Amino acid sequence: MAEPVMLITGASRGIGAATARAAAAAGYRLALLSRSADALAPLVDELGDDALALPCDITDWPALSAAVQHVEDHFGRLDAAFANAGLSLETSFLGNGGADPEQWRDMVLTNVYGAAITARAALPALTRTSGHLLLTGSNAGRGIRPGSLYSATKWAVTGLAQNIRAECVGTGVRVTLVQPGMVETEMTASTQGVPKLRAEDIANAVLYALGQSPGVDVNEVVIRPVGQDPNR
Ligand SMILES: NC(=O)c1ccc[n+]([C@@H]2O[C@H](COP(=O)([O-])OP(=O)(O)OC[C@H]3O[C@@H](n4cnc5c(N)ncnc54)[C@H](OP(=O)(O)O)[C@@H]3O)[C@@H](O)[C@H]2O)c1
Repeated sequence: MAEPVMLITGASRGIGAATARAAAAAGYRLALLSRSADALAPLVDELGDDALALPCDITDWPALSAAVQHVEDHFGRLDAAFANAGLSLETSFLGNGGADPEQWRDMVLTNVYGAAITARAALPALTRTSGHLLLTGSNAGRGIRPGSLYSATKWAVTGLAQNIRAECVGTGVRVTLVQPGMVETEMTASTQGVPKLRAEDIANAVLYALGQSPGVDVNEVVIRPVGQDPNR
């Protein structure tokens, strides 16, 4: 079999970039998506000919579906898709600080609609390879975070993964929800003094799920730094 092909959204930095490096080392050919072509370019240079940059906003269905089609046209197959791109904003429903509600729309669209249409774009191709869909949820999608719309978007990703897996019964497609705790990335740069995972730790979890035999569907991976406050 030709080397497997993996698509990663949010690939330009953080968890997505670390996963791209780990997947390349494991022999995957890669399609790397984020909005910024400039941010993707150094990673594609680093990974070489088997990595393809596809600058694209995951909230733009025509652009996203065309990008996924391009992956199949270019590589001839799609074996794994990692719906990972996301955005985090502080919010308060009482109006006690946080982002202006005008900005909330982008977060909901990116984290919920973007993840959902990434699945919708990739799954027809994944059914042709008995492939694997992975989604980055969050530990915040399992517990209560006062005032956090981000947490609610990640609860939606928890539900998405479960509903997609239910629809995929009989297709051979595996669906894995990865739920990280705090990870040291640009997203958490302003949060100091708390334990954090490395982005590579999440990449290892993704590769663990991908590496199981075809009959094994790792449904959920919850991964948190030692000592993380259970309410974060
Ligand atoms: N860091 C944590 O502690 C943590 C914990 C739990 C879960 N997560 C989740 O992990 C995922 C990755 O986060 P990270 O920490 O690696 O964050 P990050 O370093 O800020 O990376 C986010 C990535 O998403 C891309 N992106 C954002 N909006 C996009 C859009 N509309 N279309 C396409 N790409 C978009 C960004 O690239 P462009 O800006 O170039 O588009 C970037 O590549 C997110 O879903 C996040 O919610 C993170």
